[in-house]
Amino acid sequence: MTLPASRPEPQTPAQTSFAADVRHGLLHAPQKELPSMYLYDEVGSALFEVITVLPEYGVTRSEERLLTRYANEIVEALPADVTVAELGSGSGRKTRRILEALCRKRPTSYCPIEISRTALQLCRRELADIERISIVGYERDYLAGLAEVSRQRKNGERLLVLFLGSTIGNFARLAATRFLREIRAMLRPGDTLLLGTDLVKPVDTLIAAYDDSIGATAAFNLNLLSRINRELDGDFDLHDFEHVARFNPDARSVEMHLRAKRHVHAHVGAARLDIDMEEGETIWTESSHKYHADEIPAIAADAGFTCARQWVEKEWGFAESLLAVA
Ligand code: AVI
Repeated sequence: MTLPASRPEPQTPAQTSFAADVRHGLLHAPQKELPSMYLYDEVGSALFEVITVLPEYGVTRSEERLLTRYANEIVEALPADVTVAELGSGSGRKTRRILEALCRKRPTSYCPIEISRTALQLCRRELADIERISIVGYERDYLAGLAEVSRQRKNGERLLVLFLGSTIGNFARLAATRFLREIRAMLRPGDTLLLGTDLVKPVDTLIAAYDDSIGATAAFNLNLLSRINRELDGDFDLHDFEHVARFNPDARSVEMHLRAKRHVHAHVGAARLDIDMEEGETIWTESSHKYHADEIPAIAADAGFTCARQWVEKEWGFAESLLAVA
């Protein structure tokens, strides 16, 4: 039996929250906005992998250089017996160095935490060849996954939490400290958090990193409207929009926006939404905050950690900080 055309498709809980966030964000005044986590569907995640190898986007290469150079030193600074929990493992490529250094010393459990099943499978495939590793993936959001890893650990087992790639930069500053506090609340004395942060650099370098010459970041940003069309029955015409990357000096962040090139009317069926946008009006889709290496200890202290060690890569400008629970 076919359903009558007017009857809406049943939505999964994930689609219901997506629809609610789109409705809330696109009705937000005066600045329309969409949460950056929705950039990462299958297409968006594939485009992000492309971004990480672009000549203009130095973030990932810089962190890989740093982890390659200092993996042994980082492992030496850790307690003897750690289980590794990674928030947002992605493909797992940059984690390899740390895991190899740990597994050379003793068999190690690695718990990647990812909302995306595809990313978990990718990461398992990428890292399964490391000798003496055991991988248990958690298909959860970061905090729910970490709570579970922490709950399941044995007495005396220490956790090393990895939060790499400067994903912390995608949180507003106060929200970043709040998030670190929430992580801290799940940890015990002797646990550690390895935090990757992209550092402040000249504005033209930053803008090029988020508005690259082949348009990969533009496609990554525009895909969000395309995802709304696909999953929420939207009718955005992508030709009506252009990608914009701008530096916000007060927040020290690069903002990504989608700017209407002309007057736009759009309908999003599953969000029961009709919107109008003036020419030039934007939808704010992401902020990437940049840090000074020497402000990390104070942020760590504010969240209940001490910054035990820090490694800085100067070629691009990236810091890896080891935060400890005293
Ligand atoms: C995942 N995150 C740290 C990236 C960043 O640099 O903020 C996402 C990104 N957006 C555009 N390019 C890369």
